[in-house]
Order: sequence, then structure tokens, then C-alpha cells
Amino acid sequence: MARAPGAVWCRAMSRIFVARRLPGPAIDRLREAGHEVEVYPGELPPSRDELLAGVAEAEGLLSLLTDRVDGELMDAAPNLEAIANFAVGCDNIDLAAAAERGIPVGVAAHVLTDATADLTMALLLAASRNIVTSEHDAHAGRWKTWEPEGWLGRDLRGAQMLVVGRGRIGQAVAERAAPFGIEVTFAGRDDDLLALLPEADIVTLHCPLTDQTRHLIDTAALEAMKPDSLLINTTRGGVVDQAALIAALEAGTIGGAALDVTDPEPPAEGDPIFTAPNLLLVPHIGSATAATRAAMGNSAADNLLAALDGRPMPTPAPAPS
Ligand code: GLV
Repeated sequence: MARAPGAVWCRAMSRIFVARRLPGPAIDRLREAGHEVEVYPGELPPSRDELLAGVAEAEGLLSLLTDRVDGELMDAAPNLEAIANFAVGCDNIDLAAAAERGIPVGVAAHVLTDATADLTMALLLAASRNIVTSEHDAHAGRWKTWEPEGWLGRDLRGAQMLVVGRGRIGQAVAERAAPFGIEVTFAGRDDDLLALLPEADIVTLHCPLTDQTRHLIDTAALEAMKPDSLLINTTRGGVVDQAALIAALEAGTIGGAALDVTDPEPPAEGDPIFTAPNLLLVPHIGSATAATRAAMGNSAADNLLAALDGRPMPTPAPAPS
């Protein structure tokens, strides 16, 4: 059942549910535009019931990647006219269900490209030069002398990097890698990944999570990688078969991994990801700079303001596949 746009567009005031407190001016901008904005106040994401209650009367939803926005939620929100995700990824949203109901979906495209590419390089440098382990060792009294064989890492000049995904973030990583003397190859959706992996010293993932990319890095892919290669993931945990990755790290069949994302997030207490060897793990901070998070809020606000005014969203989500 598609929403009937003509009947409801161009109303002066809409109710907008924002699923968490956000940095930057986005919420003030929505209020200044005359909308009634309810911001979920918790530190943790709203529970399912809280989310359903929050959207029950809402015309606009500003969701986070931690919120599952599916057909059930859309049906529980009969007035819903616009969804803006505070993320560039939108695997938390059922795009087909939104399209069926005529609800436009927006994403925070463009604004987090640099921050995410910077974090990818930070992970690459930190993992390649043992920054975290050596820093811990220095503080823990294990710095006994200048050690000819201590904390040996990998050189970057001449290293082969395979960037999986030909989008903006992958391109931005390639731009940053070039001045280090890293040689970059891309793998897009039509390339034979298994043929490219054996050449790479560094594999960095920048494709969205879709039905086609779920577990793209599985046992076969990990087996195709070089034994001293590094896997970096700053996209979505589900692109990697995490059990297969842990097995590969434990067996030493790849050199290491640096993850900004896991599956699920956060991992449950006691998850073997926490004890896997040669693994650098950070808590999904790819876009976590103050300016980028403010820009993401502004992007979501721009998408909502446009759609609630009957205009196309400036940065719509991709069409459902
Ligand atoms: C972060 O992971 C995003 O998709 O914006």
C-alpha cells in the first residue's frame, strides 16, 4: 500500500522521531523549520518497542545504523513519509519495503568519506607497525632495551593493496595509500575476487553490505590470501564471515586483521573475536570526528526537510536491489 503523497505533502509541521541524541545543529534546524521533534534520550539505542512507539505518530524518522527499519516498523507508523539514516550505509533499512510503501529513504552520503578513509589508514599504519601492542608493552614495563628483533612490522612502500569496492571511500583510501608507495588494485562487483586476493599484501573492504556481499570474505577468500596479509574492514561486519576470520587468525593463515566493524555489534561478552591473535579492533569509529558527525546530522536533516516539503531528498539511498 503506497502512501498518497498529494494528500499530505507540504504540511507546515511534521512530527519527527530522532532515534538518538546527535551532535551538531541538525535537531535545532528541524525545530527551526517548524517541526515537532522527539529525540530518544537514551545512551543505548531504543528497544524495538520504544522505536515502534516513537514512530507511531511520526511523519519523519531520523534513524541510526543501530535501528532496524523494516516493513513491520513502517506499518506501525502509518503517517511515515520520510526516513533519513544517520549513516552512509543503509543495510539496517528494508529499502524494498520503503519503496513498496512510497516512503523515500535518505543516507548521509559524501560527508563521511574522508573520515572513514583516514581511519582506514590509521588502522593500516597501526596494524602494520604494531602501534597498539608496542604502546601497551611500553607502559607495562616490557621496554627493556632497544630491540633489534622487537615489534617488527611490515613495510608499506611497494606493498600491494586490494581495495574491495569501487565507491567513494575506496577511492579515497587509494588516494591516501599512493603517497606511501603502496600499489593499489580495485575489485568491483564484476571482478573475480578469488583471483585477485593471492596478489594482495593488504585487503581493505569498502563495499556496502548487501545480499550479494554478505560473507564475501569467507573461508575460501581467506584461504586465497597471502599468509602474511592484512585484512582491514571499515564497512560492515557482515561482509566478513567472522567465524572463518577467527579461524584463519588462530591458524595463522593470514597475517592479521584490523576491524572497525564486527558481526554482531558490539560482539557479546566472551565472543572469540576479543581474543583472536593479531587482531586490532576498534568500536565502529570510522565517521567519528566532531565535524563529520555534525555533517552527517545536517545531511539527514536536509533529507528530511526536503522530503517533508515534497521535494526529492538531496542524497537518497540507492534503489533496492
Ligand atoms: C557508518 O558506518 C556509516 O555507514 O555511516
